[in-house]
Amino acid sequence: MQTVQDAASLRATIRGWRSQGHTVGFVPTLGNLHAGHYSLVKLARERTDRVVASVFVNPTQFGPNEDFERYPRTLAQDQAGLAESGCDLLFAPDVATVYPFGAVSSVSLHVPDITDTLEGAHRPGHFDGVATVVCKLFNLVQPDTALFGQKDFQQLKVIERMVRDLSLPVKVMGAPTLRAEDGLALSSRNQYLSPAERAEAVQIYQTLQQMRDLIAKGHARKVVEQAAASKLERAGFVPDYAAIRRAEDLSEPADSEHEGLVALIAARLGTTRLIDNLLFD
Ligand code: PAF
Repeated sequence: MQTVQDAASLRATIRGWRSQGHTVGFVPTLGNLHAGHYSLVKLARERTDRVVASVFVNPTQFGPNEDFERYPRTLAQDQAGLAESGCDLLFAPDVATVYPFGAVSSVSLHVPDITDTLEGAHRPGHFDGVATVVCKLFNLVQPDTALFGQKDFQQLKVIERMVRDLSLPVKVMGAPTLRAEDGLALSSRNQYLSPAERAEAVQIYQTLQQMRDLIAKGHARKVVEQAAASKLERAGFVPDYAAIRRAEDLSEPADSEHEGLVALIAARLGTTRLIDNLLFD
């Protein structure tokens, strides 16, 4: 696997592949990779001839009090894992390559409506940073297909909408969340949890399952959401939201709707903020 840091080398390699008629898959990441990321690379490998991954800790998607500084930078470890998973090319740019006028003075994208709620409401500006960097990375890599984990469900919806609205020629694919044996969704942030917190953290997935089951039994959405938040609070979490939404656009469903729903939770455990979701089949 080749690693490049500048746009010219990235484009030269991809141009070479294109001239041989190869299709290109892309897995953008913040680095500090785990099995969930590697599963995206393997999926890309199955769908496209060549696979590019990026590792870039994007400053514009972190709020002032978030973990940008302490986000683990583990490039050597990420390189080894990506190579083993079948990645052909790693793009690991610095901030100046992605933001030539500086992160603060960059063109910024805003995807309206769908970013007003849930993560968007609790992390102002977060999705502007995500949409901006993903659009920039799409322009640099120009992939046929890009893969994102469903764990960041709202992010996936924001990117799908941006791609459609800007007519970007990229197929966006969501891939299932990988979970630890007890059900905790794999996340780079799990490593911030103390052993006691790690044991408690599974309650998020268990609560999502309960929300699904209660809705299937016909309970009212608001009652289920309130019960989920209270359960998490009793277990020592500080929930930002426990919500049931339409999976298509994250709008609020009527109590009569039982199809195409998703439950989403964001909650703080100690200093770690965890998110997860569960699609209702
Ligand atoms: O989900 C992530 O890892 C990031 O938000 C992404 C999509 C790579 C953009 O920086």
